[in-house]
Amino acid sequence: MRIIGTGSALPKKIVTNQMLSEFLDTSDEWITTRTGIKSRHVISDEKIEDLGVEAVTKALEMSGLGVKDIDLFIVSNVVSEQVTPGMSCVVAEKIGLSCPMFDINCACPGFVYALDMAEAYYKAGKVRNVLIACIEEPSRMPSWNDRSTCVLFGDGAGAVVLTEGDNIKGTKLNAQPDTDKLYMTRTLEPTPFVTKAETSIPLQMKGREVFRFAVEACTHGVKSLLDEVGIKKEDVSWFMVHQANKRIIDSIIDFMQVPAERFPINIQERGNSSSASCPILLDECNRKGMFKKGDIIVLSAFGAGLLSGAAVLEW
Ligand code: ACO
Repeated sequence: MRIIGTGSALPKKIVTNQMLSEFLDTSDEWITTRTGIKSRHVISDEKIEDLGVEAVTKALEMSGLGVKDIDLFIVSNVVSEQVTPGMSCVVAEKIGLSCPMFDINCACPGFVYALDMAEAYYKAGKVRNVLIACIEEPSRMPSWNDRSTCVLFGDGAGAVVLTEGDNIKGTKLNAQPDTDKLYMTRTLEPTPFVTKAETSIPLQMKGREVFRFAVEACTHGVKSLLDEVGIKKEDVSWFMVHQANKRIIDSIIDFMQVPAERFPINIQERGNSSSASCPILLDECNRKGMFKKGDIIVLSAFGAGLLSGAAVLEW
């Protein structure tokens, strides 16, 4: 397939490190040096699905396609107020889309998983045009009394439209199931029969272990994918890596021995927006005119699960 449209949308509320230090025992200096984040956009009075609608509308406008042209709609979403029907149905209703659709919850690498699925449907001859949207509000997952997690996240939505083509050169997905490193739980409605204890636990993270996993999963995943498709790292124009933490990206650059200029980043002003981070970055770079026809772009993301994935495409 080939990407012919990108779009993104962010909540209007910008929260700076300074604002966090007014109610948390933290500082701009700590957050900046440990994460690279200076500010992030977080949900206030918006509904996250409306940001999804905005991102999707922009991507469709750029692609020149209309809702009737889309054969499959995949939404990546971890949490939202909506439990059922899925976020894909909520967004589709608002934009008048009625093709087959489904949600996936693959945490931060959701965009790469969705690309892999789109390509598989395309290769099976079932679709010509696919719409992917990553619609995420991770700021609603941690406790805002927990300074080690809540400072990391920002919300937003990113979308792409794909059509026929052989520009996706390869994808590689990986799983190392380990649900103790990064998780959140919610209670369900009680019934007269449930006797087990259930608790709502805000996002818990073993930061250092997640850090190590992220660096290893990205460097190994990207290397083995490039080897598989026969592309040298020197020939990659852009490495679009999940914006989780600037220090994770710096370590990846060190391990991979690739010039830092080829790793665009927006984490300073976006924070970690889960699976939306890659398509938001992709859209921002695209709208700045950074990509030239023929550029080789690597996407890589990692997160809860522990899941990770990489994709290589030609622009
Ligand atoms: N402000 C000030 N101090 C803090 C803060 C904060 N916001 N958060 C933690 N600290 C303190 C800790 O309490 C601890 O204090 P102590 O030594 O008195 O116990 C000290 O700072 C060091 O804490 P560590 O957790 O060891 O700090 P570390 O250097 O590992 O940095 C961080 C923490 C930034 C979370 C890092 O581990 C990390 O980036 N991990 C990757 C995880 C990640 O990016 N997750 C995102 C979600 S998952 C994903 O998208 C991959």
